[in-house]
Amino acid sequence: MKVGVFDSGVGGLSVLKSLLEAKLFESIVYYGDTARVPYGTKDKQTIIRFSLQALDFFISQHIDMLVVACNTASAYALDSLSQNAPFPVIGVITPGVLATQNKLSSKDSSILVIATKATIASNLYATKLQEKGFCNVKSLATGLFVPFVEEGIYDGKPMQALLEYYFSGYNPPDALILGCTHFPLIAHALSAYFGKDTILIHSGEAIVEYIQSTYHLPTQRPLHSLEFFASDDVNALKHTAKAWLGNLYMP
Ligand code: DGL
Repeated sequence: MKVGVFDSGVGGLSVLKSLLEAKLFESIVYYGDTARVPYGTKDKQTIIRFSLQALDFFISQHIDMLVVACNTASAYALDSLSQNAPFPVIGVITPGVLATQNKLSSKDSSILVIATKATIASNLYATKLQEKGFCNVKSLATGLFVPFVEEGIYDGKPMQALLEYYFSGYNPPDALILGCTHFPLIAHALSAYFGKDTILIHSGEAIVEYIQSTYHLPTQRPLHSLEFFASDDVNALKHTAKAWLGNLYMP
């Protein structure tokens, strides 16, 4: 079973990490469109066009399944990708919504979705949560966390200032949806800010649960190959992969 993992850049490594931990696939091809990141500030047609170009690459790799790790691409391009792909295409938004539903006992629970400007503008998380009956959903574009994470700023005074800037008007929600690939890397800072009662929903963990329950794949398969491709310097992507994946990284 060979899976493709698509992201606008390095952020999808957070989803890749969850896939590696779950040992669901023997062979993984990661592609980050690092030359054109961020997608989260671009318009719908551009996001669809870039995603379909990435699909051509994945088709040439003869994968069996495509995981769209990027929330922004999942929000806008999932239908176009599914219509054009000869394999199943799974985005992160439906799994994130299902994981939220599994973790919250009351439909009155407060949910805060944080994501890029484009993902928030799509309103997809909020719409799908409302379809599940959740009536207390707020959405907030917090795109400045993306360059912070890419600069390796996970805590300290600048991070504290940014947390205050975005969240000072918000009460701690019951669930915080990390609707952007980069946000699991600042989960610690977000938890410290909102407190231990706020449940964090992580796209990588959500998509693993979704794949396991939908496709019933055996777990604990040995990984034979992990390949990285990028539209810009692939060595820079591999460098970040080594740092983020730790001993899960395979050269
Ligand atoms: N990967 C993107 C996402 O999850 C974040 C970075 C970007 O804006 O491209 O939405």
